[in-house]
Amino acid sequence: MCAGPEPPPSPATRTVATAGPQQTEALGAELAGGLRPGDVVLISGELGSGKTTLVRGAARALGVTDPVTSPTFSIGHRYRGDRVTVSHLDLYRLAGLHDEDPALLADYLGDGRIAFVEWPEAGRSQLPGVRVRVTLAHAGGDRRKVTLSGEEAAG
Ligand SMILES: Nc1ncnc2c1ncn2[C@@H]1O[C@H](COP(=O)(O)OP(=O)(O)OP(=O)(O)O)[C@@H](O)[C@H]1O
Ligand SMILES: [Mg+2]
Repeated sequence: MCAGPEPPPSPATRTVATAGPQQTEALGAELAGGLRPGDVVLISGELGSGKTTLVRGAARALGVTDPVTSPTFSIGHRYRGDRVTVSHLDLYRLAGLHDEDPALLADYLGDGRIAFVEWPEAGRSQLPGVRVRVTLAHAGGDRRKVTLSGEEAAG
């Protein structure tokens, strides 16, 4: 009548509280340290929860010196990092569309690139190589709850 130990949750997740944008940037930088070229990071969360802020910290850590801003007139930006191209996609405006042209995303993904994707739901079927999923949530004032899943596979 012994059920044995609980299996570990899969994939492993950890939740971190941040108290301001700099802490969220620092978490992005920490995350970036475990990524490899070809990796895709999905970043979900409400409006203003800090998705772009986290990407900014990650991009800085990967050697991007250009300002990292939200893509507005296109689905993404590509930045030159130290050893990789850093892609920053925001699929918010694709929400609800189906069967988007895969070539639309292909420019941002694949060898030599690390891609961070905000509002990934619309492109999920066309995002191979997902290594880490991040979810941010408002937690009052400048506090955010950040959940990272799959990080153990990156690094
Ligand atoms: N702990 C925190 N972490 C991240 N951002 C914070 C935090 N506290 C306050 N902020 C502020 O919240 C805002 C987050 O904006 P950001 O563009 O990163 O959000 P977003 O999730 O990308 O929004 P959108 O859904 O519009 O793309 C910034 O103005 C930032 O300074
Ligand atoms: Mg954003």
